[in-house]
Amino acid sequence: MYYPEEIVEEVRQKSDIVDVISGYVRLQKKGSTYFGLCPFHNEKTPSFSVSPNKQMYYCFGCGAGGNVFSFVMNYENFTFREAVKHLADRAGVALPEINDSKEYKEKETHRQKLLAVNKEAAKFFYYQLRSPQGQVGLNYLKKRELTDETMQKFGLGYSLKTSDSLVKYLRSKGYDDSLIKEVGLANFNEKMGLHDIFWNRVMFPIQDINHRVIGFGGRVMGDGNPKYLNSPETPIFDKRRNLFGLNFARTARTGNFILCEGYMDVISMHQAGFTQAVASLGTAFTAEQAVLLKRYTDSVLLAYDSDGAGTKAALRAIGMLREAGLSGKVINMKPCKDPDEFIKTYGADAFKERMDNAENSFFFEIRILEGQYNLNDPEDKTRFHRSIAEKLCEFEEEVERENYIQAVADKYHIGFDNLRKLVVSYASKTGLAKPVERPKSSVQAKEKEAAGARQQRLLITWLSEEPELFPTVKKYVTPEDFTDPIYKVIAEKAYESFEKTGGFNPASIVSFFEDEEEQRRVAAAFNTGLAQNPETLQDRQKAFNEIIVGIKEESNLKASADMGSDMTALQRFMDGKKALEELKRHPIVLQQ
Ligand code: CTP
Ligand code: MN
Repeated sequence: MYYPEEIVEEVRQKSDIVDVISGYVRLQKKGSTYFGLCPFHNEKTPSFSVSPNKQMYYCFGCGAGGNVFSFVMNYENFTFREAVKHLADRAGVALPEINDSKEYKEKETHRQKLLAVNKEAAKFFYYQLRSPQGQVGLNYLKKRELTDETMQKFGLGYSLKTSDSLVKYLRSKGYDDSLIKEVGLANFNEKMGLHDIFWNRVMFPIQDINHRVIGFGGRVMGDGNPKYLNSPETPIFDKRRNLFGLNFARTARTGNFILCEGYMDVISMHQAGFTQAVASLGTAFTAEQAVLLKRYTDSVLLAYDSDGAGTKAALRAIGMLREAGLSGKVINMKPCKDPDEFIKTYGADAFKERMDNAENSFFFEIRILEGQYNLNDPEDKTRFHRSIAEKLCEFEEEVERENYIQAVADKYHIGFDNLRKLVVSYASKTGLAKPVERPKSSVQAKEKEAAGARQQRLLITWLSEEPELFPTVKKYVTPEDFTDPIYKVIAEKAYESFEKTGGFNPASIVSFFEDEEEQRRVAAAFNTGLAQNPETLQDRQKAFNEIIVGIKEESNLKASADMGSDMTALQRFMDGKKALEELKRHPIVLQQ
């Protein structure tokens, strides 16, 4: 934690969660809890709950949850530190200076300088576009039907015909040659000295999610080579981890994202009202970008060019999206070349219709595959069916695979049983279940719960709702018994607080975790309900004893496994055995 615990806790206490979230989401009170439409997934009936007592939120639909810090982290895409800062400002709490390492500070200062150069350059280009020399650029963009408002929103500009006007300008603002060169705006050679890289082009500033200019794309006006010139990779410009338009798209909250190929496509989509459009940065769509999108959405619509290259790029992107756990659909752009042309020719309503009719990415893949075979030839047709079976093996989950077998069989008039047999035979040859090893994102890996973890979650929730049970619980269960590392930390903090204050505060425990995914799991741990709500005292007692016994049994299993390597394990095991026997003889009795 960068800030002292007490300060973080003070900020949290002064930031009432209902108050803060009400600034973003319309909440309605039902009993002791507030409900609203979840801002983290698309829904029509409210499953997003905010508890003033727990000072936590939790979505029963998508599992998003945490305390007030988690909320602004998620919503504003802040780091933990930025979230603390943001809420401290809001609540009027003064934060102490952070003690970062010297190395970190120097790197950060350098990054800030590079960003400042880019910002100054963007201003220069912007100004030139609106000056007499920039008239050619303005005419070009107008010819492409961009409005002044759109040009302003995206900060479009123009680089002059002279070879060093930007260099001169930046020098006059006090920036060193080395900085101008490092950020990718100038080159050096003997003949010309330090000279501009971008000449006589319309300029597209590329912004990060916080609207900071991290690079540029420059387009020739008309035909010319190269059509686009892009800033090189620099310490502030990582092309694999940013997306053009994401700074606007991330707050569109339309429930989906539209992935395009080009800058012009994104700009013209936004102008037409589709503010959820983004594009990769002059390079192919990357796995990192897919993971980035997954933070905002579950559903991506591909709006790639309709030509061969576009189709190939779409097929690649579909793979990336699938690996990141995103569902992909492909928008049919025909007879147009790309979304920009489509919008201009047919308008936004027609495009919306195409979005609604976007093709499931798997069917898209199969349809493209189909084109490679001559279905009038029986042998070729068999080969086609085999390659369908091969692709179907990519679905790891049985239900999903079976659904797709059914759907493809219907669509291509193949007997379901025949296709299924083909899949099974292909799978047995190659050893299905896990056909392609997908690189698990860290998120997925972290999400896996330790065995018996559900009961640990149940106990945590139960304790948070009935803290008076703590003296009973602690007779049998210690934090050591929580085998899941996250739940163990929660238990340690909770026990500590119980001993000190006689109670514990769920929301303050969330602040010990800075990772969003961990915070989500902590929130879930405070919102775990029994499969069936016990109605009678007897049922409650039974459920409670089951949880305690379950946790002890799991912990004992672990203790016996640890005995070889851990000196304390034997003692833990013996204690656990004793506790279990005691619980069997005298189950815990709950008060009405
Ligand atoms: N691109 C690039 N360098 C090139 C050509 C293309 O970096 N020489 C990248 C740019 O990011 C561009 C994207 O690939 O936006 C898509 O290329 P293309 O479809 O050719 O360009 P559009 O964005 O559609 O631009 P326009 O409509 O002006 O042709
Ligand atoms: Mn285009």
